[in-house]
Amino acid sequence: MEPYRIKVIEPIPFPSREERERALTRVHYNLFDLHADEVTIDLLTDSGTGALSAAQLAASMTGDESYAGARSFHRFHAAVQDLTSYPHILPVHQGRAAERVLFSTLLEPGQITISNTHFDTTRANVELAGCEARDLICREAADLDQAHPFKGNIDLAALERTLAGPEAAKVAAVIMTITNNGAAGQPVSMANLTAARQLCDQYDVPFLLDAARFAENAWLVSQREPGQVGREPRDVAKEAFRLADGCVASMKKDGIVHMGGFLGLRDPDLAARCEMLLIATEGFSTYGGLAGRDLDMLALGLTEVTEPSYLGARAEAAAHLADVARAADVAVVEPPGLHAVYLNAGRLLPHLPAEHLPGHALACALYLEGGIRSAELGSLYLGELDEQGNVVKPAPYELVRLALPRRVYTMSHLDHVGRTLERIARQADRVPGYRITDCPPLLRHFKARFEPV
Ligand code: F0G
Repeated sequence: MEPYRIKVIEPIPFPSREERERALTRVHYNLFDLHADEVTIDLLTDSGTGALSAAQLAASMTGDESYAGARSFHRFHAAVQDLTSYPHILPVHQGRAAERVLFSTLLEPGQITISNTHFDTTRANVELAGCEARDLICREAADLDQAHPFKGNIDLAALERTLAGPEAAKVAAVIMTITNNGAAGQPVSMANLTAARQLCDQYDVPFLLDAARFAENAWLVSQREPGQVGREPRDVAKEAFRLADGCVASMKKDGIVHMGGFLGLRDPDLAARCEMLLIATEGFSTYGGLAGRDLDMLALGLTEVTEPSYLGARAEAAAHLADVARAADVAVVEPPGLHAVYLNAGRLLPHLPAEHLPGHALACALYLEGGIRSAELGSLYLGELDEQGNVVKPAPYELVRLALPRRVYTMSHLDHVGRTLERIARQADRVPGYRITDCPPLLRHFKARFEPV
């Protein structure tokens, strides 16, 4: 069970069915445009949506807001250094800022970065630097139903082929995303991280982490990996950081703060160049766009997040959500990870072809039926669309992500999701598809408009 109790509460809204219908029509069926007070259970993201602890709130009151050299920075620095061992730590306001600062400093146009899966902002920042972001996900990830323990792994053979092949000179970095958010939040094993590190050593390529969910990855390693079972998640996490030359890290996830992130590096020259850009575009190197109180809350969050009792309860919550979905006859990507449960919308709604956006259809149905907000991860987000928004090449899967904010929802909230899924699944053939009526050229899922078909 949860190793904490609730001391401060926030009422959640219960719009009526009619209000939900009106809201959805008003926003042209794009859930990003809903007002948060039109949403009952918000599972859009686990990013920046966690609940603070009493200790974090107390620390925020003693935050030092000095422009330079604040005590808060030194506490943050000590906490990050203890965890990561990186000598150079630059605070940033969120993960994508670390990506922008690092990639625009490290990369030259025409180079390639390789990842198990680049998160979309990571990819965008690589591409903005004039480079190619190449994903080499392991083969097991393609089977949504198989409970392979480490479907977030990189394909080591493909990595070696690339590092030894004709494009070798172009490879600027290998970036391992832990856990692999772009691949259904699946973890990466320590064996895979170690082998990838060895290849990077052999071919002299920097080895980096995208460490947004480093603690959740460490927990899953300590539960699933032979030789690692029973280890303290914090020790596993420390070892992962020590394997790498540096990291970009959104701390809105496993920092359990509403805003924050950091860039950690071993290379002093690269760090010095990044620091210049940080000062010019984020803030001085002892705050990087964050308030002193943010740095203090983050320092504590980094300790709280590796507590085995906390991680165990989070795993139970995700497992429970997966159970209620399966009980409603809705398939989930197996095995469930920690930060989200991914629903197989394509399988639930076989009457909807990819061009009618089954993932988006299920996300809209979840809102209409239960006031639940989720995120489509299917052809809308990942497929190829023409300028009018017609699906030219569908995504390989039509999924919906139910992301779990940290320490926010109780099991009975998740049971509400289960009951909603049951009602939808009972009449799945009545769920309408959607087509895009207005398709922006970039980041379409945020701003596209739809109508039911
Ligand atoms: N890397 C990963 C693996 C992420 O999941 C995210 C954000 C980022 C980088 C970017 O960090 O938002 O702090 O700038 N993921 C959020 C999500 C938005 O909903 O999965 P950011």
